[in-house]
Order: sequence, then C-alpha cells, then structure tokens
Amino acid sequence: MTDGQNPGSAEATAPPAGAETPTSSTPHGNATLASEAPVGDALPNSTDPGLSVPMRTTDLSCFFGKHKAVEDISLAFPEKTVTALIGPSGCGKSTFLRSLNRMHELVPGAYNTGTVLLHDQDVYAKDTDPVAVRRAVGMVFQRPNPFPTKSIADNIWSGPKFNRVKGGKAERDEIVERTLRGAGLWDEVKNRLHAPAGGLSGGQQQRLCIARALAVEPDVLLMDEPCSALDPQSTLRIEDLIRELKDRVTIIIVTHNMQQAARVSDYTGFITIENEGEPGRLIETGLTRDVFGNPTHPRTEAYVTGRFG
Ligand SMILES: Nc1ncnc2c1ncn2[C@@H]1O[C@H](COP(=O)(O)OP(=O)(O)OP(=O)(O)O)[C@@H](O)[C@H]1O
Ligand SMILES: [Mg+2]
Repeated sequence: MTDGQNPGSAEATAPPAGAETPTSSTPHGNATLASEAPVGDALPNSTDPGLSVPMRTTDLSCFFGKHKAVEDISLAFPEKTVTALIGPSGCGKSTFLRSLNRMHELVPGAYNTGTVLLHDQDVYAKDTDPVAVRRAVGMVFQRPNPFPTKSIADNIWSGPKFNRVKGGKAERDEIVERTLRGAGLWDEVKNRLHAPAGGLSGGQQQRLCIARALAVEPDVLLMDEPCSALDPQSTLRIEDLIRELKDRVTIIIVTHNMQQAARVSDYTGFITIENEGEPGRLIETGLTRDVFGNPTHPRTEAYVTGRFG
C-alpha cells in the first residue's frame, strides 16, 4: 500500500490530558497471553494500579470501503514501553497503526469501528479534533520524509510553528537544540542548522523526522518500519534512540525485522490473516521474550522462526 508519507503529519495541537489505569491483569488485550503477568526489572508491573496506559484500543476494526482489513483488535500500550507489531505483509499493521492517530480516515472511503482511547479521551468522538490527536500521537514513516528544501532547524520548528507556539529566537534555538539532542543528531548537524534537510544522509534524515515528531512533545510515537530504508549502522542508532525515548513517549513500532522487535520492544503483538480474504487479527500478544521464546500459537511460532510469512 501507500504508506501515506505525509510531511509534517505529526504536527497538530494540544494533547488531551489525563491518565488511564489498566483494569485487566495484563497491559495487553484480547489475544492469548504467553505469560500471565509481566515480570522483570525493565518492565512495568501490569498489576500496579498506578500504571499509566496512554493508549488502548478496544475491538478496533479498519475498513477500506467494504473491505475489512483489520478486525477487532484490543490492545493496551503502557507508558514507558515499546510495543512491536509484527506479521506478514498485508495483514494490516500499517492500517492499524494509522488508525491510532486518525490518519487512516484520510484515505477516501476508509473508516474505523471500535474504540481508541488516548488517556481518557475517545480519539474518534465527534468533538475530538483529529489535528489534536495527530499532535499527541506522532508518526514516523518507512522512508524519511523531511521537508527537503527547508533547513534542518526549520524542519524542527515547523511543528511548534504550526501549533502557533510563540517564541523569540532564543526560545526557538533552545527548542531546536533540545529536540536535536533528544534525537541524537545535534553533534552531527549543529554547524549546518540552516542547510537544507535534503542534504542529510538517509539515517540522519530519519533521525530528523523523529526529532520533528518529538518537537511537539507527543504522548505516543507510531513508527512504521522506520529502519527499513536504512543501513545496519543507522538502524542500530535508531534502535538506541528508541530505547532512550521510551521513558518520555510510548512507542508502537511496526517491523519486519524479528531481531529488531526482539532488541527494542517490551511487548509484541502478532497480527496475521488466517485464511485468504479474511481481515488481519491479533493472534498473540505478550512480553516480547515470551512471544519470541515461548509462543503459544503455532502460527506465531512459524512466523517468528521464519517458517511462514
Ligand atoms: N489505500 C488502500 N485502499 C484499499 N485497500 C488498502 C489500502 N491500503 C491498504 N489496503 C489493504 O489493506 C490491507 C492491509 O494493508 P497494510 O498496508 O495495512 O498491511 P501491512 O501489514 O502494513 O503490510 P506490509 O507489511 O506489506 O506493509 C491489505 O489487504 C491492503 O491491500
Ligand atoms: Mg505496512
């Protein structure tokens, strides 16, 4: 499909406030869980009533006109975690991801049923501003898509400017530097902030796109195969960055790279189409180490071991 490369799509307005606590004993949703409850130092204790879950879906289905591409996915994405979505080509990973920040509906005839909650706010409620949703839920695409003729600094500043953040030169410079540092790009570009972004390498452009998404301080960052156009070294840099960022922003990443999912994510959801013509469904979800090391569903095992898909 087209992956909806949409320069500046992460730019929008105020994020909704509030926090949600999980009601179930696991942060993830309706699929078979490989383990009863997450354990381990790096992972949140999902039974902790104080655990914040910035985003969750309930029975989310995604349609292109009459075609149902994704069916009834219920998933929760706890704060300070990375969730990887994996599954064979065409199972609906991008469609699901784009439904989380109301980008799916930008395709003519496309719509969703079910619920997406961002904190306590229904993303699809009549009075929810989709532009506000897209600011709070930023997105990074497969191919880096900076504004190529704009300067590096202006790429960063484009989001705050769109949101009518007022600020003198000092404030602007501070935001640009802080954001580029946060995306691990500052040292490489600090002497060429006013050069066109199109002159950066692919890996640098992707980190600039991540920085641009972060400049509006989103709560959730969606990443759709963010490294698939990059060389191994740039890929590892982005993975390092993902690990650093998760303390600040909840990350949901689609990847075809099983090693990448295993390296960067805390949780994994496996989506697949069981029979030709059916929609994609969530087959299994849980701690990444369980989904990869001890999957409960034979399809998951076949997929993660490379025997299918
Ligand atoms: N713009 C569109 N119009 C109609 N159908 C679409 C459109 N985009 C995607 N689809 C269909 O929706 C289904 C899910 O596609 P999607 O791109 O979400 O899959 P994916 O899991 O991201 O695949 P890949 O791993 O190849 O990126 C597919 O059947 C696809 O053909
Ligand atoms: Mg895709």
